Amino acid sequence: MTQLKQLSQAAALCALMAAGAAHAGEVEVLHWWTSGGEAKAATALKATLQKQGHTWKDFAVAGGGGDSAMTVLKSRVVSGNAPAAAQIKGPSLQEWAAEGVLTNVDAVAKAGKWDEVIPPVVANIMKYKGHYIAAPVNVHRVNWLWVNPEALKKAGTKLPTTWDEFFVTAEALKKAGIIPVAHGGQNWQDFTVFESVALGVGGVDFYKKALVQLDPATLTGPQMEKVLTTFKRIKDYTDKNAPGRDWNLATAMVIKGEAGMQLMGDWAKGEFIAAGKTPGKDFICAAAPGTQKSFTFNIDSFALFKLKNAANEKAQQDLATAIMSPEFQELFNLNKGSIPVRTGMKMDKFDDCAKQSAADFAADAKTGTLVPSIAHGMAVPAAAEGAMKDVVSQFWNSDKMTAKDAQTRLAAAAKSK
Ligand code: BGC
Repeated sequence: MTQLKQLSQAAALCALMAAGAAHAGEVEVLHWWTSGGEAKAATALKATLQKQGHTWKDFAVAGGGGDSAMTVLKSRVVSGNAPAAAQIKGPSLQEWAAEGVLTNVDAVAKAGKWDEVIPPVVANIMKYKGHYIAAPVNVHRVNWLWVNPEALKKAGTKLPTTWDEFFVTAEALKKAGIIPVAHGGQNWQDFTVFESVALGVGGVDFYKKALVQLDPATLTGPQMEKVLTTFKRIKDYTDKNAPGRDWNLATAMVIKGEAGMQLMGDWAKGEFIAAGKTPGKDFICAAAPGTQKSFTFNIDSFALFKLKNAANEKAQQDLATAIMSPEFQELFNLNKGSIPVRTGMKMDKFDDCAKQSAADFAADAKTGTLVPSIAHGMAVPAAAEGAMKDVVSQFWNSDKMTAKDAQTRLAAAAKSK
């Protein structure tokens, strides 16, 4: 009798385990988070998924800005081997959804009340024909200037708030033997700097017309000429080793005081934090010159691909649920340098840069001064973005191309489909 009971208990346990195993799935996640701060944030995502009994299959493709990751993703999808989730952003989400390869996460979104907690400007990007096809993780601000205060002190100069002041500060740093601007000469980094100059020199209306609506007259007009000329002036203040340098190595130069400033989105803050630095003390985060009253947003999100295996589908839906949970939004963004995309989150554990970003995001959403980042895939279709990015880098690298030439090429590139 006892033996029989034990046997049936064992059988019940086996059945339970089998059910558990059938339940547990694997989620392959494509991303490009490989720098110090980024990797910490990615680990938070992995841990969140593993807590639910699922397996994380890492599919990291190094390369800031994600261009390499997108190339690899295309070949995987074309060969019928899509990952469960991939870091895809902005209008590209719509392009992928139109291919019919993304899955619908409306059920998860409904259960998690996403419509109530995701700001409409973000929700629209996550939906295709009214259905959720991606889960947002954060809001990055791109128009930041990262500064080493010790370097400013050594050079006897101050934090610049306008582009004129920026060049005065850069000149002072140069005289003091400090590299004024830490830069990595890769096309997406050139484009990141360019969009902050465009916003600061041209203002919000100009930015929207030129870099969101791609208006040919604005792209070839006098304000764009001024933007390009100002942008190119920055190159004189970068070092000779800039070409090809990764963005996080440029940030490290500011962290160490080898360089004074860097124009980069707030994933750079993740590097300062990972290095144990404190904002306001060891480093300063300030709006890029002339952009104090505006905000270029860059939202990281995971698109979810159609899968064939039920357990993996379940794991994928669980990942989407977890991404929008308040616990994950806090932990992830504390490491990533961004702010939670979920509204109504407590910000008490966040630093002053994040608090400022959250306040500005809300204020700029109200005043219409919140603009999508073109350099980070939020503003225009991928083809136009890629072609314009190349023109901007060619201009940056060329000794011969005039701003006028670059403008003509930009307007042509904007028509790429
Ligand atoms: C992404 C960030 C990432 C950065 C550098 C941006 O396009 O949105 O998440 O940290 O590129 O790789």
